[in-house]
Amino acid sequence: MKGLILSGGKGTRLRPLTYTSAKQLVPVANKPVLFFGIESIVASGITEIGIIVGETKDEIRAAVGDGSQFGAQVTYIEQDAPRGLAHAVMIAEEFIGDDSFVMYLGDNLIAGGITSLVREFEELGCNAEILLAEVPNPQQFGVAELNEDGTVRRLVEKPPEPRSNLALVGVYMFDANIFESVRRIKPSKRNELEITDAIQDLIDRGYEVHPHKVRGWWKDTGKLADMLEANRIVLESFDVQRGPGKIGKGSSVEGRVSLGEGVELVDSLVRGPAVIGAGTRLENAFVGPYSSIGENCELVRCEIENSIVLSGSEIRDIGLRIDGSLVGRNVRIVKTDFKPKAYRFMLGDNSEVGIT
Ligand code: G1P
Repeated sequence: MKGLILSGGKGTRLRPLTYTSAKQLVPVANKPVLFFGIESIVASGITEIGIIVGETKDEIRAAVGDGSQFGAQVTYIEQDAPRGLAHAVMIAEEFIGDDSFVMYLGDNLIAGGITSLVREFEELGCNAEILLAEVPNPQQFGVAELNEDGTVRRLVEKPPEPRSNLALVGVYMFDANIFESVRRIKPSKRNELEITDAIQDLIDRGYEVHPHKVRGWWKDTGKLADMLEANRIVLESFDVQRGPGKIGKGSSVEGRVSLGEGVELVDSLVRGPAVIGAGTRLENAFVGPYSSIGENCELVRCEIENSIVLSGSEIRDIGLRIDGSLVGRNVRIVKTDFKPKAYRFMLGDNSEVGIT
């Protein structure tokens, strides 16, 4: 089998971060979301991976390279515009050839990886396998309606009136029959070739599409709240290793805390689960549970929890605890002594600031 990871798109719901970075490269527990996908594909024994890239192709390439850091061989496939998941399959045909493949949306995270799913697909010998998860907001996903015997009756992309609460998770397995289906379907209302329509075409042509209900957690990290939740889940469930960073004078750590190389703690407390990236300095700071602080940050006389801070950022002399925040690269949140006493902002387009 081969792997196909979709890593295009504009990431509009994560602006302004996605003006300068691909959404799949925003980190969870200090690791780009995309890397979790690559690692779980490799863990399932698949090493030939195609990555569909769009506008952000240069950053994705710079981060993933030839795939050798993951023990994989990566081929990049360029999509000229976001024309839909089924279009991505279409342009990957030459790379996939006659093989079966697992398609993985690069902003999805799934508990326990995909190894058992890949094995199930191989053992069943079906034509496609889809993953379904119960969600409270099925309108925002592809939705599956099942027959009484548990087989798939219908798939609809983002239906205003969903017939079930079963959302399509962004991991799919196909054999080569999908290529004919992606050629047979027409663009949807949002002018994309939808993968739901292509899978529906497989069903309509009598091919076997096996639905697998996902029991563990699954996250599509397209929005801030989902990103923070994914960060919490990953920090909670993954093995956080202490790391080489030093606990300096007047400082302590509680719970599972990872301190990267060269981390410096001065009169600070870190309460896990939390990760602190290499070269970051904390002074008189509190980093609370579910925080991922990137590399080379400086946190001085401030408190933060349940947040993601990307590399090179500085937070200094902030009176109130920061919570539920996503802070981009090289951001400065500092107290100033200028007159008049006022808030002073320089924020990128589509930034969001919440003040109590
Ligand atoms: C895509 C699929 C949808 C699926 C979702 C999972 O939606 O079109 O069927 O449920 O991924 O993350 P999109 O992220 O393009 O809105």
